[in-house]
Amino acid sequence: MAFSVGVIGVGAIGGYLVEKIKRDKTLSLCFVFDTDQRKVKKFPKRIVVNSIEEAIRKKAGLIVESASQQAVADYAPNVLKHTDMLILSVGALAGRKTEKAIKAACRKSGRRLFVPSGSIIGVDGIRAVKRLLRKVEMVTTKPPKSLGRHDRKKTVVYSGPARRACALFPRSVNISATISLNGIGFDKTKIKVISDPKAIVNTHTVQAEGSFGKFFIRVEGQPSKNPSTSSTAAISAFDTIKRVQCGINLF
Ligand SMILES: NC(=O)c1ccc[n+]([C@@H]2O[C@H](COP(=O)([O-])OP(=O)(O)OC[C@H]3O[C@@H](n4cnc5c(N)ncnc54)[C@H](O)[C@@H]3O)[C@@H](O)[C@H]2O)c1
Repeated sequence: MAFSVGVIGVGAIGGYLVEKIKRDKTLSLCFVFDTDQRKVKKFPKRIVVNSIEEAIRKKAGLIVESASQQAVADYAPNVLKHTDMLILSVGALAGRKTEKAIKAACRKSGRRLFVPSGSIIGVDGIRAVKRLLRKVEMVTTKPPKSLGRHDRKKTVVYSGPARRACALFPRSVNISATISLNGIGFDKTKIKVISDPKAIVNTHTVQAEGSFGKFFIRVEGQPSKNPSTSSTAAISAFDTIKRVQCGINLF
């Protein structure tokens, strides 16, 4: 039987995932849910749901969130009482209340929350040396438009802990949440966000140091249909769906 997947948020990432799910005979699209009705009008009525309660009742094998941090805060604690979930808007976990509610739901139900590597790489390495890490510093450089700005020259728009960055740039620094969760947490992980009118790709660097030595990660991601989003995020989310489906967790 096909593994059923429901998708919350059918924008750039969700739209890609839906197409990949439809083309994979071992997967089935259980439902789509989007607060913007224009995004779901092309889908058959039987798979369009209008609330998270209706989505949960569909009993998907996995519910994927590709919507917003607010969607994670609002839906994840409820979803995880019933169903495994994969989230893209990882920055939501920088909110202490949301993190606590999600952990409590998982503990009680035994359901699991999956976080794909998204727009960054090397998450396995960060996690492996987690206890030896002294310092993790990230730099994200994006074109001004994708940060909702109009800078004419290169500008450092934020420098500080990942926790605050996730609140200030809920759509742009999810990778700092992914690195924080796998490494030394939201308060010790530092990030600089740079708006650069000359940037044509989204560039992310991570420098990690500890008693093991040092490593340096650099990703130049092509923006997807949504300029704030790198296309590797959608690719890694689909890869995670396939790993959850076959039960081999190479996390
Ligand atoms: N983890 C990562 O590395 C990573 C990388 C890129 C993007 N992201 C995040 O993934 C999410 C999706 O990105 P995208 O580029 O596809 O965005 P998008 O704007 O193209 O699509 C989001 C869709 O979700 C819908 N939506 C928003 N809030 C909703 C809600 N509460 N309930 C139901 N639907 C809702 C919107 O109407 C929209 O159609 C964003 O939060 C983005 O910041 C994460």
